[in-house]
Amino acid sequence: MRCKIIHLMLGLILVLLLSVSVTIKASVTDDGYKQCEHTVKKWASSSADSEVKDDKHALRDLLFFLHVPRTGGRTYFHCFLKKLYSNSQECPRSYDKLRFNPRKPNCRLLSTHDDYSMMSKLPKEKTSVVTILRNPIDRVFSTYEFSVEVAARFLIHPNLTSVARMAKRTRRKTSGVSTLDIWPWKYLVPWMREDLFARRDSRRLRGQTHLVTNNSYDMEDILMPLHEYINDPIARDIIHNGATFQIAGLTNNSYFVEAHEVRHCVLKYHSLGEYVLEVAKKKLDDMLYVGLTENHKESATMFANIVGAQVISQHTISSSSADVAGNNDSEQLVSYFSELQGNNTNQSLKNVSSTDKDEIARGNLTVGKLTEAYESCISSLRNSQAERRVNSLKRIYPANFTKEARRQVSEVLIQEITSLNSLDVELYNYAQYIFTKQQAHMTQSMVYDERLASTLSTSTYPSFYNSPYSKFVLLSITGLLFLLFVFFFVNSRRRTSKVKL
Ligand SMILES: *[C@@H]1O[C@H](CO)[C@@H](O)[C@H](O)[C@H]1NC(C)=O
Ligand SMILES: *[C@@H]1O[C@H](CO)[C@@H](O)[C@H](O)[C@H]1NC(C)=O
Ligand SMILES: *[C@@H]1O[C@H](CO)[C@@H](O)[C@H](O)[C@H]1NC(C)=O
Ligand SMILES: *[C@@H]1O[C@H](CO)[C@@H](O)[C@H](O)[C@H]1NC(C)=O
Ligand SMILES: *[C@@H]1O[C@H](CO)[C@@H](O)[C@H](O)[C@H]1NC(C)=O
Ligand SMILES: *[C@@H]1O[C@H](CO)[C@@H](O)[C@H](O)[C@H]1NC(C)=O
Ligand SMILES: *[C@@H]1O[C@H](CO)[C@@H](O)[C@H](O)[C@H]1NC(C)=O
Ligand SMILES: *[C@@H]1O[C@H](CO)[C@@H](O)[C@H](O)[C@H]1NC(C)=O
Ligand SMILES: *[C@@H]1O[C@H](CO)[C@@H](O)[C@H](O)[C@H]1NC(C)=O
Repeated sequence: MRCKIIHLMLGLILVLLLSVSVTIKASVTDDGYKQCEHTVKKWASSSADSEVKDDKHALRDLLFFLHVPRTGGRTYFHCFLKKLYSNSQECPRSYDKLRFNPRKPNCRLLSTHDDYSMMSKLPKEKTSVVTILRNPIDRVFSTYEFSVEVAARFLIHPNLTSVARMAKRTRRKTSGVSTLDIWPWKYLVPWMREDLFARRDSRRLRGQTHLVTNNSYDMEDILMPLHEYINDPIARDIIHNGATFQIAGLTNNSYFVEAHEVRHCVLKYHSLGEYVLEVAKKKLDDMLYVGLTENHKESATMFANIVGAQVISQHTISSSSADVAGNNDSEQLVSYFSELQGNNTNQSLKNVSSTDKDEIARGNLTVGKLTEAYESCISSLRNSQAERRVNSLKRIYPANFTKEARRQVSEVLIQEITSLNSLDVELYNYAQYIFTKQQAHMTQSMVYDERLASTLSTSTYPSFYNSPYSKFVLLSITGLLFLLFVFFFVNSRRRTSKVKL
C-alpha cells in the first residue's frame, strides 16, 4: 500500500518536473519569438510613418527605378530611361553600395539593384519610385539560369587562379565597375563559378562517363542542380522572397542598420513575414508605376504613357535651363553591361550603346516616338542577349535551358520553390491588382488627354486625376460592375436552389 503511494508521489513529482521543464523550454523559444516580433513590428511601424502624402501620380524631380533582378528591367533602363534622360541627368550609378554623390545633387534619374532603403539617402518628398515585378517562380528559374550563364563564361579559363588574374587586369582597365561588385551577382556568380569549376575538375579526374540524365536542371555531373541551388543558405538569404525584401528595404544589401536583424527574424519565424509583406504592399501602393514582366506589352505602353509622358513634359518646362557638363557615367555603364555579359563586347551590344549616345532630340520627343524607339531598341537588345546566352551555355553542353527542359522539372520542386517564395507570391498577386488599377487609370487619362489636346497644345497626366470627368467614368464603371454582380448573384442563387431541389 505504502509502496503504491510512494510510487504515485514519485510519478506526480516526475510529471510536475517534466511540465515545468516544458514550460521553461516553451518560454525560452517564446522569448526569441517575442524579441523578434518586437523588432519586426517596430521596424514595420517606423517604415510606415515616413510616407509622403502628395499625389503619387505626379512625377517628382527624381525618378528612382528600383530594379528587381531578373524582371527585365534592363530593357526599360536601356530602351526607355536612357532615351528620356541625358547622361548628365543621371545620378552617379552604383549597383553595389551607393555613394550618393554630392557633386550631383540635382540629378533626375537613379536606376539600381539597391533596395528601398536607398530612399533614406534621397530627398524623399522629391522622389518618385517605379519598379517591375515578375512571377516569383519564373524569377527563381531566371536567377538560376543567369547565374549559370554568367559563371559558365569563365569556363574558357583553365582554372580559378587564371580567372582571378584576368579579373584583376580587367578591373584596372574599367575603373572599378565590375559585375562581380554588383549585388546580387557579386555573391551568386562566384558561388556558381566555383561550383562549375569543381564539377569540371572532378569530371576530368573520373574520366568521361555517360550522363544518366537528360534533365538540364538536375545534371549534377556538370552543374549544381536546381534543387540544390534553391536550398542553399545563400539562396535563402538573397533569392527567395527577394522582391518583397527589396521593396521593403530589407535585403542583404540594405542601408538600414536594423535591416539585417529584421531579415534574420523573418527567416527564422516565417509568420513575421506578414509584417514585411504589408510594408512592401504599402510601398507598391505609393509608387508612380508598377510594371509586370509577364504583361510586357501592356507594361511598356503604360510606362511610356505614365512615366514617359511626364518626363517629356518636365523637359518641356525646364528646357530653358542649360544642361550641366556631362560626366563619365555612360562610360561606366557600357563597361558594366559588357562585363555583365562577359568579355565579349560584341557588335550588337555596341550598336545598342551607340544609339544611346546619339543625342536623341529630347526636346522633340513624344510618347509615340518614344514607343517607336523602344521597339527597335528592345529587339536588338534581345537578339544580343540570346546570342550571348547560346554562346555561354555551349560551355556546359549538353545542359541547356529551354522551354522543353523546363517541363522536366518536377511538380514537387515547383511546389517547393512556391512555398519558399510565399511572400513574393502574395506580393505579385497584389502587384497584378495594382496593375489593373493603373491600367484603368491610364485608359481614362488617355481619353481625357485626347479631349484636352484639342484645346491645349500640351497636357499633363496628373492634372487629369482630379477632374470631374474621371469621376464620372469611375462612377459609371462602378455602377456597371454592381449591376453585373447583382445579376450573377441572383443567377447563382437560382442555380443553387435548383441543385437543392
Ligand atoms: C592554372 O592555369 C595556368 C595556365 O593558364 C597554369 O599556369 C597554372 O599552373 C594553373 N594552376 C593550377 C593550380 O592548376
Ligand atoms: C528525356 O528523356 C525522357 C525519357 O527518359 C524523354 O521522355 C524526354 O522527352 C527527354 N527530354 C528531352 C528534353 O530530351
Ligand atoms: C549577404 O549574403 C551573402 C551570401 O549569403 C553573404 O556572403 C554576405 O555576407 C551577406 N551580407 C550581409 C551584410 O549579410
Ligand atoms: C572622363 O573620362 C576621360 C577619359 O576617358 C577623362 O579624361 C575625363 O577627365 C573624365 N571626365 C570626368 C568628368 O571625370
Ligand atoms: C578579353 O578580351 C581581350 C581583348 O579585348 C582579350 O585579349 C582577352 O584574352 C579576353 N579574355 C577572355 C577571357 O576572353
Ligand atoms: C560575336 O557575335 C558574332 C555573331 O555576330 C559571333 O559569331 C561571335 O562568336 C561573337 N563573339 C563572341 C566573342 O562571342
Ligand atoms: C550594327 O549596326 C550596323 C550599322 O548600323 C549594322 O550594319 C549591323 O548589322 C548591326 N549589327 C547588329 C549585330 O545588329
Ligand atoms: C525638332 O523640331 C524642330 C522644329 O520644332 C525640327 O526642325 C527638327 O527637325 C525636329 N527634330 C527631330 C529630330 O524631330
Ligand atoms: C540550346 O537551346 C537553344 C534554344 O533551343 C538552341 O538555340 C541552342 O543551339 C542550344 N544549345 C546547344 C548547345 O544545344
